[in-house]
Amino acid sequence: MIVLGIETSCDETAAALVDDNRRILSEELLSQLDEHRPYGGVVPEIAARAHLEHIDRLVARAMEAAGIGFGDLDGIAATAGPGLIGGVLVGVMTAKAIAAVHDLPFLAVNHLEGHALTARLTDDTGFPYLLLLASGGHCQLLAVEGVGAYRRLGTTIDDSLGEAFDKVAKMLGLGYPGGPEVEKAALEGDPERFALPRPMRGRPGCDFSFSGLKTAVRHAVHALPPGPLSPRDVADLCAGFQAAAADAVEDRCCRAIATFRDRHPDAATLVIAGGVAANQYLRVRLAALAEEEGLRLIAPPLWLCTDNASMIAWAGLERLRLGLIDGLDFKPRPRWPLDPGAPPATGAGVKA
Ligand code: KG4
Ligand code: ZN
Repeated sequence: MIVLGIETSCDETAAALVDDNRRILSEELLSQLDEHRPYGGVVPEIAARAHLEHIDRLVARAMEAAGIGFGDLDGIAATAGPGLIGGVLVGVMTAKAIAAVHDLPFLAVNHLEGHALTARLTDDTGFPYLLLLASGGHCQLLAVEGVGAYRRLGTTIDDSLGEAFDKVAKMLGLGYPGGPEVEKAALEGDPERFALPRPMRGRPGCDFSFSGLKTAVRHAVHALPPGPLSPRDVADLCAGFQAAAADAVEDRCCRAIATFRDRHPDAATLVIAGGVAANQYLRVRLAALAEEEGLRLIAPPLWLCTDNASMIAWAGLERLRLGLIDGLDFKPRPRWPLDPGAPPATGAGVKA
């Protein structure tokens, strides 16, 4: 079984082919970073136009690299949400067109499900597992009980962790995207120099909050003598922020592990996914936590943590195996929670 996957929900245009032996036959990925960098963030209109300009060529290149034709495919998967709707439309229309012309099943994939199932592509993980999904748009703890069966244990009540990394980077004059820049600067920094809060630590439940931590970094910057920040200041602030964020994540994960075990006493696996899971410091911290808790930690290779099309092709393949095929009338969804039954998050910073 071979599935073509298309990803266009944010600022990466990508096409990939995977098979049911968990092999990635090809991945063609074009980052639009240079186009968005001058604006310090993703501009939806620029993203949509760039996806439109490049997607056909990337699909052709992915097919060529794998040495197969459309007739060899078993299905076409595309991210159908959540994400920037202009870009999602480009990917979905491309996939539907190929599906219609070649009479192939179309698979509308939830981008978050792509991240959530990556561990089964890289490590053949069985269900259930506990998932920390930390990206630019989301920060959630989920019990993954099967394909399409997700229970949300916690979510952020304000910023996502990736957003917090990006905003801290911006206020320190670092480049975009901020996560990798903050991580790099933190390597040289002293995490103890600035006293920063550990939001939500010790609170009941598994929800996250990062906006207070971000504001604390801003206050720490303002408390410094006027003038440009020295490289040392930047490094120390990055190290302090990263350590505080990791402490907060560790506390939330600890609680989620307990909740998860109540329902699944034999649970053995913690998975991390999403762009922030590429952070080496966080990976080390979570590896230590997993060991303490007697869990196996699965952290996909860095390029499979950030957005890519292999994860979309794989999620599509998992759905295809179960017969979960979508009609060509499927409407892309700018918002699409993995666990529609989860109660809305509550707290001071909840976004409307
Ligand atoms: O999953 P992703 O590629 O796109 C979304 O679906 O959001 O995640 C992007 C986010 C950005 O906020 C980026 O700054 C963050 O992941 N990120 C990192 C690292 N690499 C990417 N955050 C911390 N450390 C990193 N090394
Ligand atoms: Zn993502």
